[in-house]
Amino acid sequence: MTTLPDSHKEVAALSTEELLMRVQILKNDLNAIILAHYYTLPEIQQAADIVGDSLALARAAEKNSADVIVFAGVYFMAETAKILNPGKLVLMPDPGAGCPLADSCPEDEFRAFRQEHPDAIAITYVNSTAAIKALTDIVCTSSNAEHIIRQIPPEQKIIFGPDRNLGSWLSKRTGRDLLLWQGFCYVHDAFSETFMIQAMAMYPGAELIAHPECRDEVLRHASYVGSTKGLLDYTVNSDAKSFIVATEPGILYEMEQRSPGKTFIPAPKDPANPRSVCRQMKQNTLEKMYLGMLNRSPEITIDENLREAALKPIMKMLEMSA
Ligand code: 13P
Ligand code: SF4
Repeated sequence: MTTLPDSHKEVAALSTEELLMRVQILKNDLNAIILAHYYTLPEIQQAADIVGDSLALARAAEKNSADVIVFAGVYFMAETAKILNPGKLVLMPDPGAGCPLADSCPEDEFRAFRQEHPDAIAITYVNSTAAIKALTDIVCTSSNAEHIIRQIPPEQKIIFGPDRNLGSWLSKRTGRDLLLWQGFCYVHDAFSETFMIQAMAMYPGAELIAHPECRDEVLRHASYVGSTKGLLDYTVNSDAKSFIVATEPGILYEMEQRSPGKTFIPAPKDPANPRSVCRQMKQNTLEKMYLGMLNRSPEITIDENLREAALKPIMKMLEMSA
């Protein structure tokens, strides 16, 4: 394996170009694949082999010939990669990057919620802990949730969690009366209707596009609602030349790469609730990625019984969205 200087002080002094080059060298040495979510920093997306939404990244984690998976995202994403690849080393630049939405659904409370509705199956958003997945029948992401729910017989009751905004949007799309867990994403829930309407008036030619984790009062004004990949594809294929983008602004990097002639306006913040950046996604820095690969640590681990229990609903999702 290539020997490279590794003190934190030395690494902090390196340029982005130097770090990108060293990450590439280590990637070859380790036979690693680097997976990154669209909300990560631009330089992380540059380092990645695959940049995608939760479903694309789970699929990439399932099917690859690497020995090591380096996952730049939030914890549940790297954990899902480990659940699918127990024999591989799964590294995360900063395992402290959790998803507050996932963490808003404690295991005991979710178990009690299920017990209150014994005749309901549970479909759970992938933004959840392994313990919640283990209590679930089918996992879903924002790009396959509607497709999965449409495969469930109409008379079957469904619990959906943890995101209430995604759940309520799915309920409208499918006409199903879903039993919703009341979690939300602090980034998407912070967008509000008043400021969207102002932005639409300010940019009359721009299309509003939104992630389904936004509140209904925002979604009902959107020309398109979809996962991060859905939003990206929409901007490539639409005839519109400008877009107001109601999701985490990290996705603008890839939107601008894919459509250089188009204008992307981050959806305005509500001054009373100005939290539209996912702090956890930005915890993945190039320095931490480099050091993690150099030291082969921190590694994502999971108890084997929990892994087996969480794997079943993930595999069910992959089968149902094939
Ligand atoms: P996507 O699956 O649409 O990328 O969403 C992941 C996420 O965490 C959105 O906040
Ligand atoms: Fe979690 Fe929201 Fe960040 Fe997505 S944007 S990872 S749901 S906190």
